[in-house]
Amino acid sequence: MKATRELLPPSARIFVAGHRGLVGSAVTRRLTADGYQVITRGRDGLDLRDAAETGRFLAEVRPDAVVLAAAKVGGIMANSTYPVQFIEDNLRIQLSVIAGAHAAGVGRLLFLGSSCIYPKLAPQPIREDALLTGPLEPTNEPYALAKIAGIVQIQSYRRQYGASYISAMPTNLYGPGDNFDLETSHVLPALIRRFHEAKRDGRESVELWGTGSPRREFLHVDDLAAACALLLRTYDGDEPVNVGCGDDLTIRELAQTVRDVVGYEGAIAWDSTKPDGTPRKLLDVSRLTDLGWKPTIPLRDGIASVYTQWRSEA
Ligand SMILES: NC(=O)c1ccc[n+]([C@@H]2O[C@H](COP(=O)([O-])OP(=O)(O)OC[C@H]3O[C@@H](n4cnc5c(N)ncnc54)[C@H](OP(=O)(O)O)[C@@H]3O)[C@@H](O)[C@H]2O)c1
Repeated sequence: MKATRELLPPSARIFVAGHRGLVGSAVTRRLTADGYQVITRGRDGLDLRDAAETGRFLAEVRPDAVVLAAAKVGGIMANSTYPVQFIEDNLRIQLSVIAGAHAAGVGRLLFLGSSCIYPKLAPQPIREDALLTGPLEPTNEPYALAKIAGIVQIQSYRRQYGASYISAMPTNLYGPGDNFDLETSHVLPALIRRFHEAKRDGRESVELWGTGSPRREFLHVDDLAAACALLLRTYDGDEPVNVGCGDDLTIRELAQTVRDVVGYEGAIAWDSTKPDGTPRKLLDVSRLTDLGWKPTIPLRDGIASVYTQWRSEA
């Protein structure tokens, strides 16, 4: 369902859960720039897995809206090492925040999931109605199942209580404040770091996992934040909304782009004994573009700005 009326008053007070993260910090910057009053709490002051504590906080603060960008997040390595935390932390955070928001009378809530909720072999580009139509990618199934539970929880609050709660499913994201820890990072910051260190150390080649042939989509997190602001203001549908740039490239092309941006002149060696993961993951973003959103940051420019910022902070 598409709505054109503004669903968020200009003076709205919005709690961004996970405001120090890649997504939460971008959403905080965007909503603040749009003139909303953003409310935040660090994990040190509020563990969102704790339902009682979270419920008390929300009842006390009574925000007009909540953006749920707090989650246990990581790449393949972290997902396969800590499957218990990936399913349990995420389920608990979602239960605490969504139920707590409803109990506190919060009118609008945006839940952030991920494109990994879709079946491993979903038809491409992946439409929102591919959800629950086939088996998931096994490496991140605990995480994906927690996120699917979150979507169904949101839909249940809509159906049972008429709550104006919605879900967005972003593609692979990158941007300022990305995680560059090779143990837990996603592919793009990991590539930046690997090429940067190889250049610094004068290494002749960089070895990367897989064949480089899987196709992936990447979106700058500031573009996602703009989409989140638009969805909060205008979308009130039962179905989740995909957020992606609508275009993909091979991991090999991505690696070459990162290598060029970093200025590394050595070779790339592909270790094809290592797994490739899902062959292709491109989201159909027509539901979002129909609402008037489009991405603004080309991949190469985005990578260059993230690299510059990371080096200035290192
Ligand atoms: N990054 C991507 O490529 C991507 C792609 C698609 C979807 N998403 C979705 O976007 C959302 C945010 O991801 P992200 O990349 O921004 O992750 P992130 O950078 O790891 O940020 C997650 C945030 O959640 C907070 N958090 C985690 N557990 C918490 C707890 N128990 N209590 C309070 N706060 C807690 C973290 O706090 P600390 O700072 O204290 O650790 C951090 O601020 C997730 O739902 C994810 O599925 C991300």
